[in-house]
Amino acid sequence: MAGKEGFDLVVVANRLPVDFTVSDDGDVSWNRSPGGLVTALEPVMQAADGAWVGWSGAPDLEVEPLDADDMRLVPVTLSAEEIERYYEGFSNDTLWPLYHDVIAPPTYHRTWWDSYHRVNQRFADAAVEQAAHGATVWIHDYQLQLVPKMIREQRPDLRIGFFNHIPFPPLELFQQLPWRRRVIDGLLGADLVGFQRAGDAANFIRAVRRLRAYTTRGPMITVPDEDGRERHVRAAAFPISIDSRRFDELARQPEIQHRAREIRSDLGDPEIMMLGVDRLDYTKGIRHRIKAYGELLQDGRLDVEHATLVQVASPSRENVGAYQDLREHVEGAVGRINGEYAEIGHAAIHYLHHSYPPEEMAAMYLAADVMLVTSLRDGMNLVAKEYVAARSDDRGVLVLSEFTGAADEMAAGALLVNPHDIDGMKDMIVAAAHMDTREQRKRMRRLRRRVLADDVARWSESFLGVLTAMPSRVPRSTGP
Ligand code: G6P
Repeated sequence: MAGKEGFDLVVVANRLPVDFTVSDDGDVSWNRSPGGLVTALEPVMQAADGAWVGWSGAPDLEVEPLDADDMRLVPVTLSAEEIERYYEGFSNDTLWPLYHDVIAPPTYHRTWWDSYHRVNQRFADAAVEQAAHGATVWIHDYQLQLVPKMIREQRPDLRIGFFNHIPFPPLELFQQLPWRRRVIDGLLGADLVGFQRAGDAANFIRAVRRLRAYTTRGPMITVPDEDGRERHVRAAAFPISIDSRRFDELARQPEIQHRAREIRSDLGDPEIMMLGVDRLDYTKGIRHRIKAYGELLQDGRLDVEHATLVQVASPSRENVGAYQDLREHVEGAVGRINGEYAEIGHAAIHYLHHSYPPEEMAAMYLAADVMLVTSLRDGMNLVAKEYVAARSDDRGVLVLSEFTGAADEMAAGALLVNPHDIDGMKDMIVAAAHMDTREQRKRMRRLRRRVLADDVARWSESFLGVLTAMPSRVPRSTGP
């Protein structure tokens, strides 16, 4: 129970599920930021008496733990230098590109590693302080891979789960990392290590075998403990999903349907509205998509009087060089294509460098005839699932990259593409634009059955179900 004895479930993630604002006179206030993870975990947190440990999102912000919707939020403070080295540096300029197939070259700096280690220890200490005896701790994502071991060292009584939201790379790439064994050891501090795809879990198990020579059998890894005993760690896939009902219900609302019609009419009522929705990240294949689209206009297979592309690119990690380069490149390409092909009242590409609330997103999904998800590498890609959840009218076509986790589950209804194959992608975009409504309905129904059944509540239940069913690590009592 909560209070002096601590919490039964402690979630540890780089970000808290709230946004803090500091006024000019230093007053701190906060708003819920309804991301996917918090929606997934809210019911289990409330039922289990949970605490969430995470960064406030601002530099040097010291905030006392606070209660929000039956959840204890525990802010971890990061200095400006730690944001630069741990968050922008090691997390997003070393691990992120390395784990996404080195699409951008990873940078290795020892000072960044030191900061990553120090900040991981701070998260671990905060989690340890909150956890009741025998509690479950669930750590999230690549920013916190050392935390499982750091927690176990202090608290062998806890059940520790880790979930990696992004891909886990093949050994041939992972072994570039100068601190590769430290990362493996950090993760093996958990009882259960979860990944998006079976292929990610297999990559991890292979890295464990090759870099640590531990015995593995299927998903089970045998790890020698410090005291000479052995522990079993399970590594397996738990593909994440979205709150499908919420998007389904949103998109059924008359105001949102009205907004969808308004969007189309503001675009000049094109016959075909295509849509891309991404964080402005080089993993998302935005450049490849825009190149294919520009060539289709050039070839005359699409024209601006009948078709348009809306590209939402929400700002992300703007202090990291690779993201600045990408923005310049994308904006240059959009400018060139519009300059070349747009006509008065008919833009070729509507480029929106903003984020939008879920209501507006649902309206855009409803308005779009073709959804383009063309990532070069993506752990899952939740936009693909949101689009499908919003289409209770059984209309619309999903063009989906083979290199997303989502492709493992959505191959039956989506049009799969290899975004590196520009000609192949162009053909698929044209096929999507011309697909008849019968075929659309058949495919969308298949996709919806899957997305509505496997929602995010199921994902968290299944992960926590496997974790809590694992043999308890509470040390045996040594008697009176
Ligand atoms: C991905 C990562 C998350 C991260 C999110 C936004 O989905 O898996 O851990 O929170 O991107 O990135 P940011 O750097 O803004 O937290």
